[in-house]
Amino acid sequence: MLNLFQAKPLCIAHRGASSLAPENTLASARKALEIGADMWELDVSVTADGQLIVLHDDSLARTSNASALFPNRAPWLISNFTLTEIKQLDAGSWFIESDPFGTIASGTVTLDEQTIMRGQPIPTLQEALLFTQVHNWRVNVEIKALIPPLTGFPVVEAVVSLIESLDMTEQVLLSSFVHAYMQQAKALHPAIAAAALLDEGEAWPAGLTIDALHPHYTSVDADHTQTLRQTGVAVNPWTVNDPAGMKRLIAAGVTGIFTDFPQVLKQVIG
Ligand code: G3P
Ligand code: MG
Repeated sequence: MLNLFQAKPLCIAHRGASSLAPENTLASARKALEIGADMWELDVSVTADGQLIVLHDDSLARTSNASALFPNRAPWLISNFTLTEIKQLDAGSWFIESDPFGTIASGTVTLDEQTIMRGQPIPTLQEALLFTQVHNWRVNVEIKALIPPLTGFPVVEAVVSLIESLDMTEQVLLSSFVHAYMQQAKALHPAIAAAALLDEGEAWPAGLTIDALHPHYTSVDADHTQTLRQTGVAVNPWTVNDPAGMKRLIAAGVTGIFTDFPQVLKQVIG
């Protein structure tokens, strides 16, 4: 199983280095790898034809040109698009145009980097895992709650079976806000690490068979963290972008931190 208890807290690049490149693309993963993040995080969803792809929102609209390419398909739900259609999308240009972290305006992202971003495809989970494997890296695969008509799709079985077929059980940490998914994953393959995600204000759960908790950073304190660590459960809060917040969590004893700015967290960890 992936070792979540390292000498220093893990730098987990949220959706890749998402302040420096379009989230959930291989360009973003490559940037996080260059920076030296210990792991990248991605979100996995399912297409209309049952393929696992890397996407955060239920809709393709925010992070691709789906609305321009398929103008009559509003609200561009992932569950209504096939993989062949999704592979036609540009999942990079929106980042340059909307500049979600101000890194284009500040000049942090160079023109050469912007050229690479344009036309970035939405990766399949298999492509994202192979990228991770070839670089001998680690990844947190967050399984999103599925929306109709795909709510009954066996997403956990599909994800676990892909990880097994690529022989990557030591390199993957699964997570989900749907805790039943994580129980299912542990039942299918106990040696794959699994984490329960907690929303802001959500109570810390008891009685789950999991390897890590991923709470919202606002609900993390040293007492809870120490108690969990003592029972062998790692604590990796999300998503922290300011150095003061990072330092507070490190002082509380967390095992890892999710950030859109792995370049900042790496410096803070030292
Ligand atoms: O896994 C940490 C974080 O990614 C959870 O929230 O909405 O960014 O997927 P979200
Ligand atoms: Mg996520």
